[in-house]
Amino acid sequence: MKRDFISVTDFTGDELRENLNLAVEVKAKTKAGEQLDVLKGGVGALIFHKPSLRTRCSFEVGFRQLGGSAVYITDKEIDLGKRESIHDVAKVMSRYFAAICIRTFSHQNVVELARHADVPVVNMLTDLLHPCQLMADMQTILEHKGTIDNLTITYLGDGNNMTNSWMKMAQRIPMDLRIGTAPDTLPDKAIVEETQRAGLSSVRICHDPAEAVEDADVIYTDVWASMGEKHLAEKRADMLRAFQINAGLVARAKKDAIVMHCLPAERGKEITDEVIDGPQSVVFDEAENRLHAQKAVLIKLLQ
Ligand code: CP
Ligand code: NVA
Repeated sequence: MKRDFISVTDFTGDELRENLNLAVEVKAKTKAGEQLDVLKGGVGALIFHKPSLRTRCSFEVGFRQLGGSAVYITDKEIDLGKRESIHDVAKVMSRYFAAICIRTFSHQNVVELARHADVPVVNMLTDLLHPCQLMADMQTILEHKGTIDNLTITYLGDGNNMTNSWMKMAQRIPMDLRIGTAPDTLPDKAIVEETQRAGLSSVRICHDPAEAVEDADVIYTDVWASMGEKHLAEKRADMLRAFQINAGLVARAKKDAIVMHCLPAERGKEITDEVIDGPQSVVFDEAENRLHAQKAVLIKLLQ
């Protein structure tokens, strides 16, 4: 049966671990100049209803590095559910492509697309989740910390698709996840409850950034206003100013804490130049790992 990757919880904990190890292996092979011909000419559909630098480029390059190729498709070609039904789009595209990768607003539309597609569907970001980013994040943590287990991970800022994705990961990999955010920028309530019910990790939401970051191994942030909500940027900045990652806050974490950001960053807002360009920042390793972590996911789904 075909598998999809719409949430990191589509993989078991063991599968996530295996896939992260595969990502590390694939990265080494790519760096050694080895061509991995696992896709054997297979073509991926890359549907984008929102802008992208990292995701588009890493998927296009990734498909090529695996011996396949990719086609970039926008809402001019596919206005899901408007020009034609999601069902028909899924059925038609399944006849052309080895996999359908999609970045769009509605998470439900991606779930529906996957239900009707006969080939794997990969979520390249929805308003709810960004699972491919989390795979690259975990690979980066594995490389820098030597483990992904039982770390204290502090997410500071807007409760958004990245925060929700961290909670999904906490349902599969044990961690002490602390979310420092304002009372009006909370992450998805159902996912908070689901994660607490899963009982594998501790998940705490707090409104004091200093408390959230105390002794953290990883400090993570993202923009305060995501794609599609940039009109809220000023209001969010007023609510989230105290959660900016700056040198003072980083000093409260463990001495060897790493600082992460999925990018694009709004420097001077959620993170200062001093921190993002500083010695504890791993943001460009994280961006690079999008390429390798996604190749590992594609290998699992397509081989
Ligand atoms: N982190 C990330 O997904 O970046 P893009 O929006 O540029 O793809
Ligand atoms: N939360 C951000 C992530 C960008 C990679 C957004 O959805 O715009």
